[in-house]
Amino acid sequence: PFVVTDSCIFCKYTTCVEVCPMNCFREGPHFLVIAPDECIDCSMCVPECPVGAIYNATDLPSHLAHFTQLNADLAASATWKPINRSQAALPDHESWRATRDKLTILKS
Ligand code: SF4
Ligand code: F3S
Repeated sequence: PFVVTDSCIFCKYTTCVEVCPMNCFREGPHFLVIAPDECIDCSMCVPECPVGAIYNATDLPSHLAHFTQLNADLAASATWKPINRSQAALPDHESWRATRDKLTILKS
């Protein structure tokens, strides 16, 4: 499956969700994830993300490897809901755009 990674956190542009033929995306307060059991590996979402947050799990850089399990876990959470219409990015998306390892900040 494809995986949403760190660049999405605190930005959440949501342009990715409009092109997904399987409605795989799930929304939380600060980023999105992909439900791995629904993704058909079409790759349509990848070029839609302005910050390059989406990877094929098989091509994930090693420093982002933990996002595969995180996508699966959060997609299974009852509080993360399906999203298939784009919406406004989070208010501070410009200032967060270049920040790396935002998951650490989110969890702190
Ligand atoms: Fe949806 Fe295709 Fe992206 Fe998987 S790869 S999340 S099926 S758009
Ligand atoms: Fe996130 Fe990129 Fe989609 S920032 S919400 S993966 S368009």
